[in-house]
Amino acid sequence: MIQLHDICYVRLGTRNLEAAAEYATRILGLQVARREGKSIYFKSNDRDHTLLYHEGDPAQHAVGFEVTSQDELDAAAAKLEVLKLPVRHGTRAECEQRCVEAMIAFKDPSGNAIELVWRPLVSGWRYFPSRDAGITGFSHIGLRSADPARDEKFWTGVCSARVSDRIGHAPLLRIHEVHHTIALFPSAYPGVQHINHQTESFDDIMRSWYFLREQGVRIVFGPGRHPTSTAIFLYFEGPDGMVYEYSTGVRLIPKEQEATYQPRQFTFEPEGLCMWGSKPDIPEFRTNTEGARPVKAA
Ligand SMILES: [Fe+2]
Repeated sequence: MIQLHDICYVRLGTRNLEAAAEYATRILGLQVARREGKSIYFKSNDRDHTLLYHEGDPAQHAVGFEVTSQDELDAAAAKLEVLKLPVRHGTRAECEQRCVEAMIAFKDPSGNAIELVWRPLVSGWRYFPSRDAGITGFSHIGLRSADPARDEKFWTGVCSARVSDRIGHAPLLRIHEVHHTIALFPSAYPGVQHINHQTESFDDIMRSWYFLREQGVRIVFGPGRHPTSTAIFLYFEGPDGMVYEYSTGVRLIPKEQEATYQPRQFTFEPEGLCMWGSKPDIPEFRTNTEGARPVKAA
């Protein structure tokens, strides 16, 4: 079994690097760690970087997860090869670009580009935000899935993720005590569906709500509270149609509860996504998304 220690970073292509950088700093509140060639690295916590925009196709997304040893990385590569999922070992240059000692790259069954990395660099300097959004760090991603039930089996059966809850057929998966680090949403094409940063408080969410509206940023869901993770959230539109989320107060499922925790089934209707009545303007969160509804009992 592949043991994922934590989520590390997201890499996104963009046709307009400067516009993406402007958004990531002035709107989202991340810190530019550095610029290198046609890439810009952004910090949101004590990692070297947690987001990278590079000049290229906006459909190019990759998500990096940390594993704890070279042996783990080698075992992961072997396991994926057995499953006939093509695995590529990162070149020295690719490892340097990601500030990691070693990496492998593969695609999940829906075609999402996943990177497993060993020894990702941590910064000796704390994150210094470009605006006071209250961000405490990059926390989770929504991933697009052609078949959430099949992909749930891959992430739980191969990558040791556990199901915390399901919204329709969409599983919310944990890899450590945070309620979810990966959420799989039905979609006709692969890629990152949303990117979450945690904030310190509810006040930060509401401050951002006012700020984003003033800046003309399209709010696509919230403010609201997820009944699943109990997090208070705000979703809004980013460059190239990416959805960003701030949330605070996510539920933890501590180790002591691992043996007895039972995932709960929520409806894909708006009340399964928000317990305050907010309705999503996000295609993958809409009720009529194909394959999103739970199968009705006969
Ligand atoms: Fe989320």
